[in-house]
Amino acid sequence: MGFSVKWRIAAVLSGVFGFVSLGSAQADPYRVGLMLPATGTYAALGTAIENGFRLYIDQREGKIGGRTIEIVTIDDESNPAKATDNINRLIKRDRVDAVVGTVHSGVAMAMVRAAQSTGTLLIIPNAGAAAFTGALCAPNIFRTSFTNWQPAYAMGVAAAERGAQTAVTISWRYASGEESANGFKEGFEKHGGKVIDQLYLPFPNVEFQPLLTRIASLRPDATYAFFAGGGAVKFVNDYGAAGLKDSIALYSPGFLTEGTLAGQGQAAQGLFSVMHYADGLDTPKDNAFRAAYQDAYGVVPDVYSVQGYDAAQLLAIGLEAVDGDTSRTESMYAAMSGATIDSPRGPFTLSRANNPVQTMYLRQVEGLENKVIGIATAALEDPAVGCRM
Ligand code: PHB
Repeated sequence: MGFSVKWRIAAVLSGVFGFVSLGSAQADPYRVGLMLPATGTYAALGTAIENGFRLYIDQREGKIGGRTIEIVTIDDESNPAKATDNINRLIKRDRVDAVVGTVHSGVAMAMVRAAQSTGTLLIIPNAGAAAFTGALCAPNIFRTSFTNWQPAYAMGVAAAERGAQTAVTISWRYASGEESANGFKEGFEKHGGKVIDQLYLPFPNVEFQPLLTRIASLRPDATYAFFAGGGAVKFVNDYGAAGLKDSIALYSPGFLTEGTLAGQGQAAQGLFSVMHYADGLDTPKDNAFRAAYQDAYGVVPDVYSVQGYDAAQLLAIGLEAVDGDTSRTESMYAAMSGATIDSPRGPFTLSRANNPVQTMYLRQVEGLENKVIGIATAALEDPAVGCRM
């Protein structure tokens, strides 16, 4: 009897301690590292992503799957040379459970490598390099934005359909600029066009004049430009000032006129682009998102805000699927991979490589808006070359 009482006490205690330790693991805050640019040419993009991410967390009153969400931030400056140190600080020093970032694909490359070597969950809310959901794909790496190929290829098709026969591409020379220019070339040439030259300058250089002179002398039907943020504002203004806007159609993967229109004014009016978000979608989900975002931050959201919001939505799907018990990694990632994300851009699913399968909208600048004027390509999936998963 003595034995049995002792045993019962031990059993009760171990049950209590077992419960206490499990309970406290799940009651710990879930720490998310936001690694985004707060300075440099992509600073506005980083701010919009962070705003979108925080908006969703705030709408959930800071708690998901029973876990309080704690956010740690770091300014990556869009500087690939500092990227490894920055991601190591988040994972090793700040001991975050997940990382969300970033804008620049050269910086994101270091984040993907770190996610692979440590197993940390990574959600990419912008950087479009193909490899992240291609050759470097992994079960703990997700993207809520695009591959550079997606809007570029769709824009190439649309440019040919709009009657352009020749085009010149211009972009910063790094993974994303090159992939974007090549994606446009692929879509354009498959539909009968010819890219006659591909021009580059180093990131984040904005001395466009010599290249604009070259475009003027080549006289293509269209220019395709990949620039974003501060660089995009200057490029569109310089293109207009060089007198090219009315004679050589300016096409882009949407980033060229996204979150930039106030600084581009007349020079941007009428420009066409293709992207996975647009103004004027007028759906209940997007209208509610836009009203809440404007309420919280006093500005209208852009594609980067949407990508940040959806990074938080995707994380929430994972956390909820395991009731906050993130030791159940496989179930958490399976729920995320299989999810349909109810995005302001329209619902999207993830490919086998965890990249959005999504609608590409045709847009035209009118005032301060990239107004939707049609669908360029529905349910466009990146081919995920090299992904074995
Ligand atoms: C990228 O580096 O992948 C990148 C940066 C800015 C954009 C789009 C892609 O607007």
